[in-house]
Formats: sequence, structure tokens, C-alpha cells
Amino acid sequence: MKKARILIVDDEHLIRWSLEKDLSQAGYDTRQAASGEEALAMIEENEPDVVLLDLRMPGIDGFEVMERSVKKDMHPLFIIVTGTADVKTAVRAVKEGAVDYICKPFDIEDVKLRIEMAMETARVRRELSTLKDELKTLYGFENIVGDSPVMKEVFATVEKVAASKFTTVLLQGESGTGKDLIARTIHSLSDRAQAVFLDINCSAFPETLLESELFGHERGAFTGARSTKKGLFELADGGTIYLDEIGDMPLTLQGKLLKAIETKRFRRVGGTVEIQVEVRIIAATNKNLQAEVNAQRFRNDLFYRLRVIPIHIPPLRERTEDIPGLVEFFLARFNADLKKDVKGISQEALKLLKNYPWPGNVRELKNIIERVLILETSETIEAENLPPEITNYSHASPAEKVVEHFPAEGLSLREVEKDLIAKALAKANGNQSRAAELLGISRDTLRYRMQKFGLK
Ligand SMILES: Nc1ncnc2c1ncn2[C@@H]1O[C@H](COP(=O)(O)OP(=O)(O)OP(=O)(O)O)[C@@H](O)[C@H]1O
Ligand SMILES: [Mg+2]
Repeated sequence: MKKARILIVDDEHLIRWSLEKDLSQAGYDTRQAASGEEALAMIEENEPDVVLLDLRMPGIDGFEVMERSVKKDMHPLFIIVTGTADVKTAVRAVKEGAVDYICKPFDIEDVKLRIEMAMETARVRRELSTLKDELKTLYGFENIVGDSPVMKEVFATVEKVAASKFTTVLLQGESGTGKDLIARTIHSLSDRAQAVFLDINCSAFPETLLESELFGHERGAFTGARSTKKGLFELADGGTIYLDEIGDMPLTLQGKLLKAIETKRFRRVGGTVEIQVEVRIIAATNKNLQAEVNAQRFRNDLFYRLRVIPIHIPPLRERTEDIPGLVEFFLARFNADLKKDVKGISQEALKLLKNYPWPGNVRELKNIIERVLILETSETIEAENLPPEITNYSHASPAEKVVEHFPAEGLSLREVEKDLIAKALAKANGNQSRAAELLGISRDTLRYRMQKFGLK
């Protein structure tokens, strides 16, 4: 092991000389400085591991040497060398960042031991901080795949949001697009990573129970409340609360939630005392929350409070570039889980996956890869290994693809036509020639029908 680089700082020549003699004999790379000024210059130039520092010196004293080094972002390990009469000052120096102190007259064996201990502490600290970084990647982006520009944008927002401690986040996206995953990632990339992440599905409880789950209750607050219970807000203090399916939260509770978010205070059900907490709220929904607001099923003020940072995760069919990476990711995972060795996927099979509309999004893709791997023994996934819903989809005629289900009450062809024309126009960004192409009709016919349906 490489011996530490040591700088001896003392205005007394004799002390410097004796320390240097003993320490260099012990194999350390040692240097000397006779004043605070000199010490600072040498710390900057030689980057010593350990500085044996006298506190009392004319000019810049030991305290100032420490302070100025830190300001310049230089962090050698300072060990204070002091007279016995001065232990109090040495203790103060330790409080201000020195790692240890040694009293004069010293025993050289003791000095060497302190140096080694300081080096060991520094090594452990370094290891801890790399471990922490590794933890962050483990629960960080490593578990999320996304090569498409939209997902890269989502990831960039996630990183920014994670860095801000309190910001409320609203995740919107169809079922299976990765809202849970993103919520957990925000938590584990944040300062709160060591604190708890608690999630609750707002659609899974009737109103009174949901309120008690969120805010807790006092004993006797309602029938069945036999003892006092803490709710999520209390339990997650310092951490993150993930409110899944927020769109299903009953209106009255929405008001209470808004108040709790705004004041950071709440009462348990049946309680009189206000409890103060500090949590980050991440909410998620697969509903169009704006539409819920318009229909007066969701409070406008809560909507705005939640969507301080809105993150929209697009459906998988709108980011087919992500499919190859996702397939590879799930292949690796299920190969490991199921002890299989499927090497990849054929171009033809991949093409089918890219053409499929994925109503269940990434969750559906994940399940399909798992299923294929359980059943398959071949080297690569071929088109015929894919489930029928995917292989059949490609044979479906365009018309079949447009209308997948006939509702029991029937549908209006006129409405479908109007809807299709509007969609084609939107897809073509209002370009009528392109929209006509998409619909397989002439531009004049398109114009005529637009007029008929009152479309602009
Ligand atoms: N980008 C991605 N990379 C890797 N895995 C993903 C990705 N997106 C989703 N998944 C995986 O797909 C599954 C579904 O994701 P998740 O549960 O986060 O979806 P969700 O949006 O919360 O769905 P729901 O609305 O039904 O609750 C999970 O197993 C998740 O790990
Ligand atoms: Mg979810």
C-alpha cells in the first residue's frame, strides 16, 4: 500500500525536524511548512493526504489554514498538534473539521497510529459515498428503458424533479406506461432516498377508509376504530407519498388533501390536534384529469396544485423506438429469472411488435416476453412464437384496425366517419392533401365531407 503524503506545519523548527525525521524513516512522504501561508501554498501544490497542523502560529493560524483550504475545495485530513495546556482549542478544531489531535510531547508510535486511523476513516468515507452512488443507479435509471426522444425528455424532467425536494408531481399516462416505476425512480434519485416511499391506490378504498389510511384516526373516531392509528402522511414524514389513481379520489377528500398539501398540516380522523409533516406528493392517474375537472368530478384547485410538474408518459404505440430496447431488457431479465438463454428476436417478430397498438403498454410487452420465454426453447424469438393477438393483428384489414370493438349499443357510422376525418387532419397537421391521402380519398371529397360535418 502506498504510504500517505504528509505535510508538517509548525513554526518551531525543532518539532518539524523531529517529526519529519521519524515519519520519513517510517516510509511516509513528508514535507514541511513553517507558517500558515506556506502551508496553504503547499496544500494546494502537493495535495497532501494528512496535514499535521500547529494551531498557534504568527500570521495565518491553524484555524485559518483549515478554513481557507475548505473554501478552496481542498480537503486533506487535518490532525492538530497541540500543547497539553491547549486541549480545549484542539477540541474546537476537531469540531471545525480536523479529524484528530495529538498532544505535545508526543510519542512517535502514537503519531503513526493516528495517521493510519485518519487514512482509514477517509477510505471508509470514500467507499460509503461510492456505495451511495451505486445504490442510486441500482434504483435509478438502470431499471428504466427508453430510447425515444419523448422518453428522454421524461427522464430529464425526472432528474430535475428528483433534485428539488418538495415539488409535487403529477404523472399521467395509460395503464402500464410506467407511472409507478417513474414515481419510485424520482424518490430514489432524491435526497429522500433513505426515507420511506409509501404508496396508496386511491380507488381501492371507500371514502372513510381512504381518509383514515391517509391521515390516520383517533380511537373511537368511527365504528371499528379501536385504537389510534397513524396514517400515510405521518408514517411517510420526511419521505414520499405516491397517490395512485388520484382521479378516483372522492371530492370531499380532495378538499382535505389540498389543505394538507398546502399547509403541511392535517388532523387525524376524529382528532383535534393539527399534526405537521413534511412529505413529497407524487400523484398518478390514467384518466384525463382535465376532462375530470371539466366534468366536475375533480377539483380544479387540487388539479393545479398537483400539476406543478406534470409528466405525461406517452403510450407505447407512440414510441415504437423504445420497443427493441425494452425487448432486450426484458429478455435479459427473464433469461436470468427463468434460467433460459434466448439470444434475441428476429427482425420479422420485432416488426410485428412495432406494429401492434399495445393497449396494455409496457406491462403487456413485459408479460408477453415472459410468456414467450416460459414456452420457448429456441435460440431467438421468431414471429410464430408470438401470441395470436399480435400475429393476427398484422393480418387485420385497416378498417378492422380502426374499429376494434363494436359496442353493445352499436355505433354511428356517421360519427365514426367524422371522427376519422378529424383524426386524419390532426395527424397531417391540418394539411388537407396529406389527410386525404391518409383516408384514401381525393382532396375535393375530403373538403366536401369536412363541410358536411362542419369540420375546419
Ligand atoms: N420504460 C420502462 N422500462 C422498463 N420497464 C418498464 C418501463 N415502463 C414500464 N415498465 C414495467 O412495466 C410494468 C408496468 O409499469 P407500471 O406499473 O409502472 O405502470 P403504471 O403506469 O403504474 O400502470 P397502472 O396505471 O396500471 O398502474 C412494470 O413491471 C414496470 O416495471
Ligand atoms: Mg400504477
